[in-house]
Amino acid sequence: MTFEQVKQKLDGSVMPTYARFGAALVSGRNATAKGVDGKEYIDFTSGIGVNCLGYADEKWAAAVARQAAAIQHISNLYYSPVQAEFAEKLCRAAGMSKVFFGNSGAEANECCIKLARRYGEDALGIRGPEIVTLNNSFHGRTVTTLAATGQEGFHEHFLPLTDGFRYADADMGSVKSRVTEKTCAVLLELIQGEGGVVPMDRAFVRELREFCDEKKILMMVDEVQTGVGRTGAFYCYQNYGILPDAVSSAKALAGGIPMGACLCREEFGSLLGKGAHGSTFGGNPLACAGGLAVLERVGRPEFLKEVRAKGAYFSEKLKAMPGVSGVRGMGLMLGAKPEKGPAGEIAAKCVENGLLILTAKDVLRLLPPLTITKQETDRGLAILEKTLRAFA
Ligand SMILES: Cc1ncc(COP(=O)(O)O)c(C=O)c1O
Repeated sequence: MTFEQVKQKLDGSVMPTYARFGAALVSGRNATAKGVDGKEYIDFTSGIGVNCLGYADEKWAAAVARQAAAIQHISNLYYSPVQAEFAEKLCRAAGMSKVFFGNSGAEANECCIKLARRYGEDALGIRGPEIVTLNNSFHGRTVTTLAATGQEGFHEHFLPLTDGFRYADADMGSVKSRVTEKTCAVLLELIQGEGGVVPMDRAFVRELREFCDEKKILMMVDEVQTGVGRTGAFYCYQNYGILPDAVSSAKALAGGIPMGACLCREEFGSLLGKGAHGSTFGGNPLACAGGLAVLERVGRPEFLKEVRAKGAYFSEKLKAMPGVSGVRGMGLMLGAKPEKGPAGEIAAKCVENGLLILTAKDVLRLLPPLTITKQETDRGLAILEKTLRAFA
């Protein structure tokens, strides 16, 4: 099939919810993808932060293939050795005690929200507990995670949303003003990804941790985009030197197989008892095999050190690049603000020139595979520089 044939077929039968770029991808190795027409692309996207080990990593692919050939799915009616192993190792990497597995970031947040509501009811005796989230946040596309998302643009046309969310700015004064006797939790991203790669202030995060302790409300961190090595720590809260009460994780968790997880500390680990929550696919053996292959690599201190070094290299090159007016982010989660031209148009031109890159609000967003090589990095940055020059 040619690109045009793929486009026509897909547009003919898939709902038009996505603004797609002009490339149809069929294969890849590490941070280099190949299109239907044989064209090569350097990938600074990882499929929006999913392919942490790049495309078709040999060990990851072999682990998933082995699992598929042994037993691919069993439901949660039975015990799974591979789920048991992954759950134990993931909890250890996160510094958490219990995990619930789902299939996406939105579902991971749904579980955090249910956990917090249950905590509000059971531990704090609140009827109709509320959760404070931040303005400019993004927590997913289900009706409840849209409600948790502090951006009105996402709410339009889908009202009424789930009740029980109050939005605050990312400062303690604002958070305190939104907390009431009905508040059971605060949920936040430590770097707002879809919001434009906006890192939270360190002092704010640490003060928020203390405040939640004082008020006996849960501090929940959405690590869907920032998690699994992306920022140079396994979870971004480890960079901030805090431990949340609950964490949502997804995207890179199984290296390209749908998986989401809500993790929590020991004291909250039995709030959701038998029948309180569930998922047919959650923690299925295939996803857990992918997750174990990811964890075995990304969980290593040397690997995370390399992510930090790669992030510093990217950041330094971007800061020095003509046409870039500012760079923010952490590790390999970076936002580069273009001096001229809408980010979306620049990204579309980059694709034409052989570079896959994301946008978030007014920045070009970079989430390359954590395994990206120096050669791939330099090739991609050269394409970006050439593209930006055309917009100068
Ligand atoms: C911080 C954050 N939370 C939640 C989500 C939703 O994840 P999913 O698309 O897997 O439901 C995303 C997706 O971009 C995200 O960035």
